[in-house]
Amino acid sequence: MRQRVSSLREQFLSELKLTGKGKDVEDLKVKYLGKKGPVQELMLHLREAPAPDRPALGKEINALKEEIAALCEKALSGFSQLERAQQFAEEAIDISLPGRKRYLGRKHPISQMLDEILFIFAGMGFSIQEGPIIDTDYYNFEGLNFPKDHPARDMQDTFYLSSTHLLRTHTSSTELRMMEAYPPPLRIVIPGKCFRNETISSRSHVFFHQVEGMYIDKNVSFADLFATMQEFFNKLFGKSIQTRFRPSYFPFVEPGLEVDISCTSCDAKGCRLCKHTGWLEVVGAGMLHPTVLKNGGIDPQVYSGYAWGFGIERLAMLRYGIKDIRSFTESDLFFLSQF
Ligand code: DAH
Repeated sequence: MRQRVSSLREQFLSELKLTGKGKDVEDLKVKYLGKKGPVQELMLHLREAPAPDRPALGKEINALKEEIAALCEKALSGFSQLERAQQFAEEAIDISLPGRKRYLGRKHPISQMLDEILFIFAGMGFSIQEGPIIDTDYYNFEGLNFPKDHPARDMQDTFYLSSTHLLRTHTSSTELRMMEAYPPPLRIVIPGKCFRNETISSRSHVFFHQVEGMYIDKNVSFADLFATMQEFFNKLFGKSIQTRFRPSYFPFVEPGLEVDISCTSCDAKGCRLCKHTGWLEVVGAGMLHPTVLKNGGIDPQVYSGYAWGFGIERLAMLRYGIKDIRSFTESDLFFLSQF
């Protein structure tokens, strides 16, 4: 009997050595200490031993039982530490990896500029209107006093879509539509996209934006136009800007003029931007031609009005010192994120 106890112990110790993970130890414990296991079996065989030996033998078997349980416990805790360490290693997250940067969207510089421009004119009592980008020859040219075959049409190389329709070359195309839609007094600004069939360069593009302005009422005079332009540029550039008006020709205004502003880069001292003249050409304007007012259903004997038009790209280039108009349409995030 004693022999069997010690050989069972040897057998357990050698099997314990073979275990490789916590689960093996648990299985081994059940195998040895379970109800049908060898230790229990020894207990059952105890009664076959001579009666005087039984208490000592019983103690030995119990000691073996406790030893097996204790050794299993020890092995288990060793493995569980090891296994947890392994699990941690496998599931570890490398927090030293740099995260992915999320870029916040923002308004295009042309839209930002447009917002500012419209805010200033809204503050001066102008309402904001829009017209179609694809328009007819009539609204873009004919009705604005550009007769067919008139050389003034050559000032604006046009993308014709058909014999009657085109991509508007200027926002002036919406002037007549507004006169038809609303009775005077009319004080509106019309922002929008324009297209011209031009060679693309650093200074001109086939696609650009304009803001048109128009004021029609009784007794509207040149002085109103001057004052409005002056006020607008002072507000836009946030400093005192000088304006200069030069006679020019646009078929839909009489007299027509161009508005120059004192160079925003050198304060009219002369630099490369203003070609050493001290002035920058920024706006086309004039008093609405009586024929155009008539075409819009307005009596030129009763009403008069002024109109102007300017390019937003050009103003943005002056404001931010941008050298190339193509930058606005190249979707270069490095460029765009500066604004
Ligand atoms: N539409 C003209 C252009 O694109 C600019 C212009 C000139 C607009 C005179 C006007 C104006 O309203 O009165 O070149």
